[in-house]
Amino acid sequence: MTDSVPKAPYTTNNVGIPVESDEHSLTIAGDTGPILLQDHYLIEKMAQFNRERVPERVVHAKGSGAYGIFEVTNDISQFTKAGLFQPGKRTEMLARFSTVAGEQGSPDTWRDPRGFALKFYTELGNYDLVGNNTPVFFVKDPMKFQDFIRSQKRRLDNGLRDHDMQWDFWTLSPESAHMVTWLMGDRGIPKSYRHMNGYSSHTYMWVNGGGEKFWIKYHIKTDQGIDFLTQADADRLAGEDTDYHRRDLFDAIAGGDAPSWTMYVQVMPFEDAADYRFNPFDLTKVWPHGDYPLIEVGRMTLNRNPEDYFIHIEQAAFEPSNLVPGIGPSPDKMLLGRLFSYPDTHRYRIGPNYAQLPPNRPHAPVNSYSKDGPMRYVPSNASAPYAPNSKGGPVAATEAYGDPAGWAAAGEMVREAYRQHREDDDWTQPGTMVREVLDDAARERLADNIAGHIKNGVSKPVTERALQYWHNVDKSLGDRVAAKVNGG
Ligand code: NDP
Ligand code: HEM
Repeated sequence: MTDSVPKAPYTTNNVGIPVESDEHSLTIAGDTGPILLQDHYLIEKMAQFNRERVPERVVHAKGSGAYGIFEVTNDISQFTKAGLFQPGKRTEMLARFSTVAGEQGSPDTWRDPRGFALKFYTELGNYDLVGNNTPVFFVKDPMKFQDFIRSQKRRLDNGLRDHDMQWDFWTLSPESAHMVTWLMGDRGIPKSYRHMNGYSSHTYMWVNGGGEKFWIKYHIKTDQGIDFLTQADADRLAGEDTDYHRRDLFDAIAGGDAPSWTMYVQVMPFEDAADYRFNPFDLTKVWPHGDYPLIEVGRMTLNRNPEDYFIHIEQAAFEPSNLVPGIGPSPDKMLLGRLFSYPDTHRYRIGPNYAQLPPNRPHAPVNSYSKDGPMRYVPSNASAPYAPNSKGGPVAATEAYGDPAGWAAAGEMVREAYRQHREDDDWTQPGTMVREVLDDAARERLADNIAGHIKNGVSKPVTERALQYWHNVDKSLGDRVAAKVNGG
């Protein structure tokens, strides 16, 4: 006798066995009949449900993403030998955009920087470019990152977000002024993920085929045009549609309107770094375009929505340490700190074999000597579990790197601030933005946004420090903010 095959599609349990009922637990007959432990399907449903969540990302918890393609449109091979940047090359990729401080269910339209994380599935493994929609950041030493984030998240006592903590941290950390000027300006709430730029923010190193080294910064400019939401519109949308940006991205791609961005780089000759007027590795500074103009690299187009949000976006694991031959880090201390942090958090959040999950699996061969561990399911193709071996196992590809993407370093061990270059200070670049980049209407919105934020729960001593902070950025902006704060 053979099994009778039910009519498709039929419900099964997790191992494909047809289930007897979608609605009724197995009980002893009658209204008082207890539920039976042998109802494995009921137990599977409850147990699976209890385990549906992985911890949310400690930052950038709320996000959206899509797959796409990156194509090189220029010949920049004189600056890097990285395969994905060679003329005409097309590389599959994944992008995830996010807010920073909010939790998974938080409104997309809160004022916050936006994450801009890209994963390129190159022939020599995954290259991750994990940037933001801002060219600078709040702090410049990884020792301060955790404190900064805690000041933006929730209070110890009542679990509320608190503007007093935010301004307390910012005003005691004047290196934040450039980024806070950005955040409080128009670009602090993009109209959608499609209408914002991405920046590496950090400086990276590129190495060309001849071993020549360059310092570079990435700028990934939206082809949809920059657009933003006013504070009033953002506040309204936070109530009307918490997922406003997620919906916009998904609907645009589903409707065939694939968004695209053009990637550029600023290239600094290796030797320029030593006496450039700004410290080129300081994450709170930009390189003015007049010094290092943008050079076009290529275009990325996001054209495929994930078919399962959890699998492809929640389980996506981006890591600044995923650098391929031709690309290396720079002495930016924040970047060097980040190289450790991301793989560490992935091991905790989604398990030590996270690289085997669909969005993280390279499209290149994996010949790793790592083995075993929870939830490992892709068999190793190494013929022995150790190296070196005489069993024909893989050997290191030293020749793919040639000259290492590094720099000379020697000296005493110290804990100290960056060496200041000629024009380094905390106030010049944000001041330039206020005076030379913004028009008067944008300055007025900036002052309104700052004053509105300060008036919302900031204590008197912290308010006084905040007013001084804005005077330091730009005296006339400081006066405007003070008038709005003190004027009630
Ligand atoms: P530029 O005039 O060449 O560049 C100014 C840049 O400011 C623009 O290209 C644009 O960046 C950006 N920008 C325009 N409007 C806003 C806004 N409302 N909020 C935030 N950014 C805006 O001058 P410099 O390169 O000499 O830079 C002057 C100042 O501009 C800097 O001190 C910095 O504050 C800001 N800036 C500089 C950037 C850089 O990498 N050089 C990048 C972004 C800002 P984009 O073209 O990327 O959209
Ligand atoms: C996410 C740490 C600075 C961009 C994260 C996560 C951690 C982290 C732990 C969660 C990752 C996950 O769970 O998957 C740090 C540390 C920093 C730092 C320690 C400084 C020392 C920055 C900077 C940028 C940035 C300067 C941008 C230039 C991002 C982005 C994400 C993220 C885009 C979300 C990635 C995604 O979409 O999955 N960061 N971060 N971070 N960080 Fe940072």
